[in-house]
Amino acid sequence: MSLFYLISFLLFHPNYCATKKYTNYTLYRGVPVNKSHLDFFNSLSEMFDVNFWTPPGSLYKPIDFVLAPGDKKVFLKMAEEYDVYLSTLIADVQRAFDMQRVKSYIRRNLGSFDWNDFYRINDIYNWLKDLKDKYPEFVKVESIGTTYEKRPILAVHVTLPGSKLRSKVIVEGGIHAREWIGPCFVTYMLQQILDSPKSNNSNLKDIALTYEWFFVPVLNPDGYEYTHTNNRLWRKNRNNEYGVDLNRNFDHAFGTVGVSFSHYEETYCGAKAFSEKETIAMSNFVRNHSNHLEYYLAFHSYGQAMILPYANTRAHMENFDTVAAMAKQAADHIALRYNTRYVYGTAYDTVGYVTSGVSGCWVKETFSVPYVLTFELPDRGQYGFALPNEKITPTCIETMDGVLSLLKPRTKIYDKLRHEHRGFDDGQRTKFLDKLVILFNVCLFVIARFD
Ligand SMILES: *[C@@H]1O[C@H](CO)[C@@H](O)[C@H](O)[C@H]1NC(C)=O
Ligand SMILES: *[C@@H]1O[C@H](CO)[C@@H](O)[C@H](O)[C@H]1NC(C)=O
Ligand SMILES: *[C@@H]1O[C@H](CO)[C@@H](O)[C@H](O)[C@H]1NC(C)=O
Ligand SMILES: *[C@@H]1O[C@H](CO)[C@@H](O)[C@H](O)[C@H]1NC(C)=O
Ligand SMILES: [Zn+2]
Repeated sequence: MSLFYLISFLLFHPNYCATKKYTNYTLYRGVPVNKSHLDFFNSLSEMFDVNFWTPPGSLYKPIDFVLAPGDKKVFLKMAEEYDVYLSTLIADVQRAFDMQRVKSYIRRNLGSFDWNDFYRINDIYNWLKDLKDKYPEFVKVESIGTTYEKRPILAVHVTLPGSKLRSKVIVEGGIHAREWIGPCFVTYMLQQILDSPKSNNSNLKDIALTYEWFFVPVLNPDGYEYTHTNNRLWRKNRNNEYGVDLNRNFDHAFGTVGVSFSHYEETYCGAKAFSEKETIAMSNFVRNHSNHLEYYLAFHSYGQAMILPYANTRAHMENFDTVAAMAKQAADHIALRYNTRYVYGTAYDTVGYVTSGVSGCWVKETFSVPYVLTFELPDRGQYGFALPNEKITPTCIETMDGVLSLLKPRTKIYDKLRHEHRGFDDGQRTKFLDKLVILFNVCLFVIARFD
């Protein structure tokens, strides 16, 4: 290839190898208080080069979006005409991204992986492999499938010596590429479980021995790597130039609400349910371990919410009340640490929109998994996806407090509920049992308090 062709190739395919820069792109927050505002925000993408960090939902739910510097003048004029409530969250998004330090992991030096930094996909994978070599008796690392760019999707299986192995927990991270704090937390949680025998936190010790653990820290490795090399705001996988939103591609209410059928939209759900290599791999993996699967936890950012099934409806279904009571306790535990406030409920209750094809919903419905929660990790938009390094460790610590609260072995009682829950569809009785369980826990709590 001659130099001329190389140069013109680079000029006309600027995203092909160069990193997209967001210099002077601005993160705005709008709050719609009437229908005309909502219409305005919904029509932004027809007029501007806009990237939503929080898409328009219902009235009063904040909408966060990034605008290119060239669009700002016209946009601000229109915003004034519509009289929308608008604030600037981050004036220069690239500056905020540049503050996110990415470190290298040094092979065979487990201590060089920490939670003060972000890592490229190969570094995360090398750390996982080194963990397996350090703990060969109880850590297994396997590939559950191969991506479009031929990367393995690695899963970690942990059973601590002396485990009771009553039931299983699957932890999913990194389905959305740009949500970097997700893989940070999942790797942190894995490390906490592995370190638990040496820990003086008896709660953690107990919980670590109660379950069989499965972690998929980065379900979308191609997309994740692409956010490091090409476009920090990439969300989907790397199937073709456009990619598919993997968390809209699972076979639950597929393609019904809250998705796009156009390739270049952020929530493009794919041609059909399970059209993507990553979602096929995850569905096979979950199916293989669905026996006694008690918890499915997925980690996203941002917004500080625990989202309960089902995402495609406003209704509170099945054991919603039970899981909501557990989520409330978890939220209280999280707040105790650094006063970080979480909300909980369905997608509609929390983020303000309904959506479909979501991993946790498919898992819950298909395998009757009792406790399915999707976390939107911090923050609430001050940094958004540009969460700085100093926030990684505190976020992991407080989130672990919440997760441990959800996983407490007092769930033995809930186990019973699950079996009942499976056997019949009498909602009345399930509700009654839910209440009984809550009452029982209140009693335990009171007893523990005055013990
Ligand atoms: C960004 O904005 C600043 C301040 O308005 C300006 O000085 C600078 O040239 C801009 N940078 C680019 C790359 O447009
Ligand atoms: C929407 O709210 C804004 C600000 O309160 C107001 O100025 C505008 O007239 C409202 N639009 C409609 C159609 O009600
Ligand atoms: C665990 O022990 C260390 C010292 O060995 C102490 O600093 C820490 O506060 C203890 N943590 C708990 C939860 O007791
Ligand atoms: C699921 O189990 C089957 C049968 O043992 C195996 O061939 C397959 O590789 C497993 N897939 C995943 C993703 O775990
Ligand atoms: Zn997400």
